[in-house]
Amino acid sequence: MAKVKLTVNGRAVSGDCEERTLLVHFIREKLGLTGTHVGCDTTQCGACVVHLDGKSVKSCTILAVQASGSSVMTIEGLAANGELHPVQAAFKEHHGLQCGFCTPGMVMASVDMINRHGGHLDEETVRHELEGNICRCTGYHNIVKAVLSANAEMHGGAKQAAE
Ligand code: FES
Ligand code: FES
Repeated sequence: MAKVKLTVNGRAVSGDCEERTLLVHFIREKLGLTGTHVGCDTTQCGACVVHLDGKSVKSCTILAVQASGSSVMTIEGLAANGELHPVQAAFKEHHGLQCGFCTPGMVMASVDMINRHGGHLDEETVRHELEGNICRCTGYHNIVKAVLSANAEMHGGAKQAAE
């Protein structure tokens, strides 16, 4: 067994787990934060994306012990003061989800994408960046619209890019 200490959504947490425990399973099973989903366990679908020290990672690709000492943000930590994060609000407004299974990973990946590109995002870049996030429902069109709209909202860019 190994001791894992993390800051998760701003709160210090710790717990024991087997050395082989994946971060996603630690988050879901030890911490009860089930918004982070497991779609494949093999680094393909992106349903498990969280932020690790501010960068998006597939939490099924790293061990909980490897993340120990780091800061993790999950989908549960994104809304602030009862308000949806602009990316969450844009997914809602533009119908960027159907069953919702992929949505937490899509949203976390999109927040990181928007932060990294500092407002300079176009459709091609969004589609390229989301290649590691699989959605079986939406056809991606409304997801891309939502990301571009959130990007405009967060960076004051040309909103027509999303329309
Ligand atoms: S569960 Fe991690 S990529 Fe699919
Ligand atoms: S909304 Fe169903 S998998 Fe994406």
